[in-house]
Amino acid sequence: MKVLIAYASKTGSTRKAAEELAKYFKRVDLVDLAKEMPDPSKYTAVVVGSPIHAGKILKPVRTFLENNEKVLAENRTGYFICNMMLDQTPMMLKNNFPSSISRTAVAMDSFGGEMKMENAKGFEKFFIKMFTNVMNRKGSNIVEPVIQTDRIKVFAEQMQEALELAEED
Ligand SMILES: Cc1cc2nc3c(=O)[nH]c(=O)nc-3n(C[C@H](O)[C@H](O)[C@H](O)COP(=O)(O)O)c2cc1C
Repeated sequence: MKVLIAYASKTGSTRKAAEELAKYFKRVDLVDLAKEMPDPSKYTAVVVGSPIHAGKILKPVRTFLENNEKVLAENRTGYFICNMMLDQTPMMLKNNFPSSISRTAVAMDSFGGEMKMENAKGFEKFFIKMFTNVMNRKGSNIVEPVIQTDRIKVFAEQMQEALELAEED
């Protein structure tokens, strides 16, 4: 009964969210897909997480999904994103985790996000600066994104329920 949480992160917030999620499971491997490609068939349940950059999940996450489509479609899975435009979450999930992979998913959601300069490089730095300027503009209705721990808790509970059912099989 082991859970895999496989993620990628550019500026650290998806890593933070994945670490928070990992706290809910007794036996869990937390793997950064930019460093390592784990074998999902070795796990009872698999969670995949990625930030949204320009409407897309990150490349190592896409590669992991493509290489493991069949195993993921037949396993207990959960998919999460970190993003700032929460109203676009359903569309982002649908576009980036197609039903060929996610049809058996027990949890899919956004954990919110963060826009922090630390760890940002090149274009990300530019983007965050631009976003912060817009946010700080008088009368702006754009609010700074935050990681939503309540959503992580609900997601973890959905995964735990699926694990309990697997134990009964
Ligand atoms: C270059 C860049 C592009 C982004 N594009 C989007 C986007 O298209 N939609 C969105 O909702 N959020 C977007 N964001 C916000 C990120 O998804 C959010 O900050 C997320 O928490 C970043 O995760 P990370 O720290 O793990 O990289 C973007 C952020 C950056 C830096």
